[in-house]
Amino acid sequence: MTNAATQIELLPPPIRTRRPVAQSPLRDLKIGNVPVGFPVVQAALSGYSDGPMRLVARSLGASYALAEVMIDRFVLSLKNRERTRYHLHLDDEDHPVGGQLMGSDPLQFGPAARKLVEAGFDVIDINFGCPVKSAVGGCRGGYHLSQPAVALEIVSHVREAVASHIPVTLKMRRGMDDSSASRDNFFEILEGAFARGVAAITVHGRTVEQKYIGPSNWDFLRAVKQHAGTKTILGSGDLFTPQACLEMLADTGVDGVTVARGAIGNPWIFQQCRELAAGQPPSFPDIAEQRRVLAMHLDLCVAMGEAKSTVATMRTFGIKFARLHPRHEDVRNAFARVKTVEEWAAVLAGWYTHGIEPRQEQP
Ligand SMILES: Cc1cc2nc3c(=O)[nH]c(=O)nc-3n(C[C@H](O)[C@H](O)[C@H](O)COP(=O)(O)O)c2cc1C
Repeated sequence: MTNAATQIELLPPPIRTRRPVAQSPLRDLKIGNVPVGFPVVQAALSGYSDGPMRLVARSLGASYALAEVMIDRFVLSLKNRERTRYHLHLDDEDHPVGGQLMGSDPLQFGPAARKLVEAGFDVIDINFGCPVKSAVGGCRGGYHLSQPAVALEIVSHVREAVASHIPVTLKMRRGMDDSSASRDNFFEILEGAFARGVAAITVHGRTVEQKYIGPSNWDFLRAVKQHAGTKTILGSGDLFTPQACLEMLADTGVDGVTVARGAIGNPWIFQQCRELAAGQPPSFPDIAEQRRVLAMHLDLCVAMGEAKSTVATMRTFGIKFARLHPRHEDVRNAFARVKTVEEWAAVLAGWYTHGIEPRQEQP
């Protein structure tokens, strides 16, 4: 398991020029034979998109969710049994769900993909995008964008390893860097992957070299969708508001969008996208609603999580959720200090009380 959450600095969103959101009805998303529906989904997020986060996102309108990336060797390993059990355990309500694999050796992908299918994952996603130093240095994730032949070998192994009704999908950044050779590699992998039976490709409009600095290139997403024609493309990058999600759909023509940093501590973004798409103003959660959802997240984490890591996980989420609280710094600091689940629950009970007005706008 990479620990990208601790390695990637969560930079503030870049400022985009506001464009009017198209009023035409959104097309339902399908990934292979898996009907997803509303085309705004929960992205894979290492350190975050575990079972509890996915269930909370679904309860607020996410129609599909991806689990955090798993290293193929880790999935196959008998060591780490506890963590493997946690990551491979799926709640009955947690569908459709994508399991994402990352690795270096093409031969390990097939057996790992089969294991994810046995665990109940509906879609197998292959990570060709992770820019974290340990991943790229270990010839995993985004590194594969520099070696199309190996990348396509991985795709073939995974496609052959799992039954034909299980969609195989890719996650790619737009290249290693801004060179034309990198762009050529991107399209070689894209075309080769679709030719090998990949059902959908998610494109993050930043390069591996770029990491999270600078904007995601939506013009590139538009070019990819035009190139792909009727093949399914999902877009990623800079989706921090419901307006941005619908703008990406309208501006680039992608078939779906995957919300990443914008959903950490703000699962209401999925509901807000549905409201906006229906022509209504997006509603911001009042304190009672925030309390309800935080309590739900805690209950799920206690029920499903590993006892040892529950406090650490909930501390992280509490800090992120605090952004929507009018006294966000105080609440953030209170969550940051908790050492037990009981202390976490006490912060919730103390700070999320009646009579506190919510922030009126997205921070
Ligand atoms: C903390 C963190 C963890 C991530 N983990 C994954 C992952 O496990 N798999 C993946 O494909 N992308 C991962 N990503 C990339 C996101 O899915 C997304 O493509 C990227 O953050 C761009 O979207 P955004 O600008 O809207 O956040 C991660 C990003 C962040 C910030």
